[in-house]
Amino acid sequence: MIPVCRLQDLPEGASVRIDTTPPIAVFHADGELFAVDDTCTHQDASLSDGWLEGASVECPLHAASFDLRTGMPLCLPARRALRTHQVTVDDGMVVVRVAADVCQVAEEGSAA
Ligand code: FES
Repeated sequence: MIPVCRLQDLPEGASVRIDTTPPIAVFHADGELFAVDDTCTHQDASLSDGWLEGASVECPLHAASFDLRTGMPLCLPARRALRTHQVTVDDGMVVVRVAADVCQVAEEGSAA
C-alpha cells in the first residue's frame, strides 16, 4: 500500500506521479480515481503529463490514448495495455495497492 496524497490535494482533472519502480500515475478523472503505470507503452513518456478526457488519458508525446479503467490503448501508436492498480481513499488519504513483486517504492537517498 502506497500513500499518495490527501484526496483534497488531487482535485478532479489532476494527476500525480508516484516515484516507484516502475512509476505509477494516479488520476482523478470522470469522478473517479485511477492508478496505472506512468510510462506509456509506446515509448518513454510520462502519462501523468498527458491530457485527460473523461476516463482516458492522452500521451503527451505521440497522442496514444489509454482507457484508465482497463489500461487498454484506444488508438495507435500504443499497442500494449498499461497495468492498472487498485486505488482507494482511506481516511482522506489516496492509497495505491501494487503487487509487491512488481513495484518498489524509491527510498530517498537509496542507491538504485
Ligand atoms: S510515447 Fe506515448 S504515444 Fe508515443
